[in-house]
Amino acid sequence: MTMTRTVLVAALLSAAIVSAGAQDNPKHGEELLQKSCASCHAIGRTGDSPHKFAPAFRLLGQRYPIEALEEALGEGIMSGHPDMPEFTFDADDVGDIIAYLKSIQQR
Ligand code: HEC
Repeated sequence: MTMTRTVLVAALLSAAIVSAGAQDNPKHGEELLQKSCASCHAIGRTGDSPHKFAPAFRLLGQRYPIEALEEALGEGIMSGHPDMPEFTFDADDVGDIIAYLKSIQQR
C-alpha cells in the first residue's frame, strides 16, 4: 500500500516537472543549429554565413523578435527560400534553439 502511494507521488511529480517545460538548454540549441543550419548560416557571435544570402543568426533580432521564429521552427521553416531545406523541430528543441538565438543577438 505505502509502496503504491510512493510510486504514484513520484509519477505525479515527474509529470509536473515535464509539463513545466523542461529547462531550456541553449547549448543544445546551438548543437541543433550547428547540425542543421551552419552549412549556410553563421550561427555564432562572429563570422560570415557560408551561404552569402543566408542571414547570420545573431542579426535576426534586428529584423523581428526572436520569439516570432518559435512557430516557424515548430511548424516547419519557412517561407520561400529556395535554397533552404524545410525543418521541423519538436517543442523542446524549439525552446532550446530560441534560448540560444536570444543569447547571441546583436542589436
Ligand atoms: C542550404 C542552405 C540553408 C540551410 C541549411 C539553412 N538555411 Fe536558412 N536561409 C538560407 C538562405 C539562402 C536564406 C535567405 C533567403 C532569402 O533571404 O530569401 C535563409 C534565411 C533564413 C532565415 C531568415 C528568414 C527571413 O525571412 O528573414 C531564417 C530565420 C533561417 N534561414 C533559419 C534557418 C534555420 C533555423 C536553419 C536550420 C534549421 C536554416 N535556416 C538552414 C539558407 C539556408
